[in-house]
Amino acid sequence: MKIALLGMGTVGTGVYEIINEEKGNYFANAQEKVNIKKVLVRDKKKKRKLDVPDDMLTDSFDEILNDEEIETIIFAMGGMEPEYTYMKEAMKSKKHVITANKAVVSEYLDTLLNLAEQNDVMFLFEASVGGGIPIITSLKETLKINRIDEIKGILNGTSNFILSKMSSEGRDFSQVLKEAQDLGFAEADPSADIDGFDVSRKLAILSSLAFGCHIKDEDIYKRGIREVSKSDMEMFDNLGYVLKYLAHSKMESDNYCATVEPVLLSSKNIMSNVNEEFNIVSIHGNIIGELQFYGKGAGKNATANAVVGDLLYIINNENKKEDISLDRIMENRKLDAFKGKYYMRIDIKNHEEFKNIIDMVDEISKVKKMMVEKSQIFVVTEELSAYTVNDLAQKINESGNSLFYARIVE
Ligand SMILES: NC(=O)c1ccc[n+]([C@@H]2O[C@H](COP(=O)([O-])OP(=O)(O)OC[C@H]3O[C@@H](n4cnc5c(N)ncnc54)[C@H](OP(=O)(O)O)[C@@H]3O)[C@@H](O)[C@H]2O)c1
Repeated sequence: MKIALLGMGTVGTGVYEIINEEKGNYFANAQEKVNIKKVLVRDKKKKRKLDVPDDMLTDSFDEILNDEEIETIIFAMGGMEPEYTYMKEAMKSKKHVITANKAVVSEYLDTLLNLAEQNDVMFLFEASVGGGIPIITSLKETLKINRIDEIKGILNGTSNFILSKMSSEGRDFSQVLKEAQDLGFAEADPSADIDGFDVSRKLAILSSLAFGCHIKDEDIYKRGIREVSKSDMEMFDNLGYVLKYLAHSKMESDNYCATVEPVLLSSKNIMSNVNEEFNIVSIHGNIIGELQFYGKGAGKNATANAVVGDLLYIINNENKKEDISLDRIMENRKLDAFKGKYYMRIDIKNHEEFKNIIDMVDEISKVKKMMVEKSQIFVVTEELSAYTVNDLAQKINESGNSLFYARIVE
């Protein structure tokens, strides 16, 4: 089989090594020889980590599209365009599509799956969620017997690295973010990782497949981790909790709720021990119960492994139709499903504000644990709905004081 690779960056290099340089097990012994015939890049003259023959590199997508020998195209470029347009053109030209691009998949999953069906080709995207963790294949398998009603996961290595380091080394958010940037884990603009967009796209893909309706990034409530401080981390340690940036979606009859927010887990919870760049995903099926998947969520080899796994699926399942439907009509009930005790840390700007803030907290939670230290109030509330706490947070912010809060997931 002849294939094309779009992109020769982190993921593309990993894929090229496995296929054309026969790194690893399968391709060395494969019955059917697979070869990358063309590699699309932006700049053909750029110095690359691998020696790719000059006649293989191209900057013209049309050259790939019009090559009838090429049966499958692997997308490893990134961004929304031109990748989305190229994917549609590839499928219309009867070529299978494999992608690692969560942005395109989460936004256009429905359209792309339909296009694959109409053109009798496969559209596979295992590497778009959880890097090396085979979560999408597992989800599809689980769905053959189960109704999946809940997904939870730590799905972003950068934010998990930051929270793990803050917790284990007692350092400030900004210091650890800088270290993550210096190590190349975090982008110069870290917003996608620490404000939840990266995670919510991944949760959107998993929830769409699991619940059978197209859920997009904009349907998911998101709260970032910028406000978490060193003093919070000390307090979590004393209380026996660990802070994790959790993607969480739930389905009940024809309703769903989905969030990405910092939450507190008991230090004994398995997810509390998922540290640094590792990811974990848990799915709950009505027959199987809870299943958890753990592994490296990004990086050259882990992601390339998932991409090449999709390629093997195409080779081994010729003429097999994918049975995924996103036709179900569901109502987005936003935060309805989320309630619990809450941890809050409120920074008071002056002494006159103390009574005012304590009154505000009293109004929503009569029973609570409270501690005052210098200009900070720490509270653990009784069980509250997410809406009640968000309203309080807004009032406190409007009063000119700042706070960090996180739901305790028992
Ligand atoms: N990195 C990871 O760990 C990881 C994990 C999971 C999923 N992903 C996804 O995998 C995809 C690739 O990520 P990456 O980290 O490998 O990206 P990257 O290192 O930035 O590489 C991007 C590659 O695509 C090429 N490219 C970009 N735009 C192009 C265009 N318009 N026309 C032709 N070539 C173009 C670039 O060409 P030049 O080299 O000539 O500039 C480069 O070779 C993204 O969708 C990303 O979200 C990445």
